Amino acid sequence: MKTLTGIFLDTGRIDEIRKYHAMGIIRGVTTNPTILSKDGVTGGWPGIEKHCKEIATLIDPLPLSVEVTTNDREGMLEQARKFSSWAKNINVKIPIHGPEGETENLVLVRELETKDNIRVNVTAMMSAQQCLLAAMAGATYVSIFGGRVNNMGYDSRQEVRRLRTLLDSFGSTAKIIVGSTREVLNIVEWFEAGADIVTAVPSLIEGMLVHPYSKETVRMFLEDGKKLV
Ligand code: E4P
Repeated sequence: MKTLTGIFLDTGRIDEIRKYHAMGIIRGVTTNPTILSKDGVTGGWPGIEKHCKEIATLIDPLPLSVEVTTNDREGMLEQARKFSSWAKNINVKIPIHGPEGETENLVLVRELETKDNIRVNVTAMMSAQQCLLAAMAGATYVSIFGGRVNNMGYDSRQEVRRLRTLLDSFGSTAKIIVGSTREVLNIVEWFEAGADIVTAVPSLIEGMLVHPYSKETVRMFLEDGKKLV
C-alpha cells in the first residue's frame, strides 16, 4: 500500500504558511516565479533569498520548492546551486523543457541529482509520459499540472492513475506531485488517483476545512451550552 505524503502549500505568503504549518496539516511548500511575484516578493535576488530562507526556516525540515527563473543551462545550474545553498530543505524546480520545446533540461536534472546532490522537482508537466521521463532522469519529484490538464479537456485523474502505475511498475521512487489545483475536490480525487503530494493554495485548504453545516452545528452546541451553565 502506497504511503500518502500529503499537501504542499502552493504560496509565497509567510502568514498563510505559518498558519497551516502550525496546524500540522501541510508536508511542504511550493512556489514558482508567478507565485512569488503575485505574493509581493520584491528586492531582486536579495529579496528572493531573504523570503525563501524565511519560509525554509519556518517549515524546516519540510521541503520548499524554488523554481529557476531562466532557461539558460549555465544560469539554471548557477541558480540551482544558489537556492540549495540557502537551506538544506530547499529543492529546485526545473521545467521539463524550454519554452520552445528545447530538450536539454533533463540532462541538467540528472546532473543536479547525481553530481550536485540537489533534489529536483521537475515542473510544468501535462502528461504521465513527460513525468515518466523526468522520473527516469532521476528527479526526486515529478509535478503534473492537473488543473491545466483538465482545462485542456483531458481527465487529469486518468493521467495520475497511469503515472502511478508506471512509476510503481518501474520501481521508481520519484514522488508524484499534482499541482495547478483549481477546486477543493481536486485534492482528494488526485490522492485517490495515486498522487503522493497535491499542492493547494491557502483558500482551497480553507475550503476543505470549513463546512457551513459544521458551522451551524457548532453554533447549536454553543447556544445549548449556554442553557446548561
Ligand atoms: C505547482 O507546483 C505549481 O506551483 C502550481 O500548482 C501551478 O499552478 P497554476 O496552474 O495555478 O500556475
